[in-house]
Amino acid sequence: MSLLDSIKKKAIAQDKTIVLPEALEERTLKAADIILKEGIARIVLLGSKAAVKDLAGKHGLEHIDKARIIDPVDFEEKDAYADMLYGLRKHKGLTKDDARKLVEDPLYLATLLIKNGAADGEVAGAMNATGDVLRPAFQVVKTLPGISVVSGAFIMIMKEKHWGDDGIVVFADCAVHPDPDANELAEIAVMTAKTTRAIVGVEPRVAMLSFSTRGSAKHPMVDKVAEATKIAREKEPGMLIDGEMQADTALVEAIGKKKAPDSDIAGKANVLVFPSLESGNIGYKLVQRLAGAEAVGPVLQGMAAPINDLSRGCSVDDIVNLVAITVNQAAGK
Ligand code: ACO
Repeated sequence: MSLLDSIKKKAIAQDKTIVLPEALEERTLKAADIILKEGIARIVLLGSKAAVKDLAGKHGLEHIDKARIIDPVDFEEKDAYADMLYGLRKHKGLTKDDARKLVEDPLYLATLLIKNGAADGEVAGAMNATGDVLRPAFQVVKTLPGISVVSGAFIMIMKEKHWGDDGIVVFADCAVHPDPDANELAEIAVMTAKTTRAIVGVEPRVAMLSFSTRGSAKHPMVDKVAEATKIAREKEPGMLIDGEMQADTALVEAIGKKKAPDSDIAGKANVLVFPSLESGNIGYKLVQRLAGAEAVGPVLQGMAAPINDLSRGCSVDDIVNLVAITVNQAAGK
């Protein structure tokens, strides 16, 4: 069974509710129909009930009736949710009036539903930019205790099965935090290792990437990665984390043996932690396009509840897959 099939199968065995705030986006509604048909999750759709039903009818989507549809503008619990938002954000200067307006924004209401226990997770981003999906999530749902930074991992499914574990290599951070310091990078490494265990189901071997291997280049950027490696190892002494190293040292056995012969992971890494968002985002897109890898994610890690952001170029299948992953994350919480 493929990794995605097994993730979907696990999701079907759970009873989790996922909120889709972009209900009037065609791919999202088509994905919701498949999810409901296959029983991957219970679904809450945010949008005008008449418009959702109209769009479903136009596309012959027969399972949308099983979803809970909430119209954020005409929601009977709107005042209670506005009060909740005001309580969470008044220390940041949010007024009651601001809260009443924001609660009508599906991206805010989705996070408030999660905070209130009416949903277990969220998937959005088919029609909204990453920042607009993430900001309400950071403000309302916040990070897990002890975690300061949310990051985004991609599960890269390679055509050639000799990479990573059976062709699966996890990349991070490719989606969220532009310029992590050494402490934040260490957190990202540990979170990505945990995501790899939880979602891919394999033991992580984490390479902390740089343009230097074992001090071959001297630069503050290299020092940051070496420091992050040290901190990550102190945080999780039982995990296989090594660096700083170049990508070929991490992935190619002959080069790993030559450049880092004492390393447990050089030449056989299955998790690649990039030094910055710039390198991570460019790196995953290059591998996706030039090597034809399937890029599943970004799987956001470190949030107190699973909220995942789609690329605006996503397909219906991408949305179904990300909802299944979100259910698995919610189940593993
Ligand atoms: N983890 C946890 N919390 C965070 C993070 C983070 N990585 N970044 C910001 N926050 C919190 C802040 O602490 C703050 O909380 P508070 O208001 O309670 O104090 C709140 O979020 C807003 O913080 P700002 O610094 O004002 O954050 P801003 O809104 O400027 O930016 C954002 C956050 C949107 C995530 C920004 O870092 C960003 O745009 N990142 C890049 C996202 C992106 O474009 N990715 C590439 C595309 S994705 C793809 O290709 C798959």
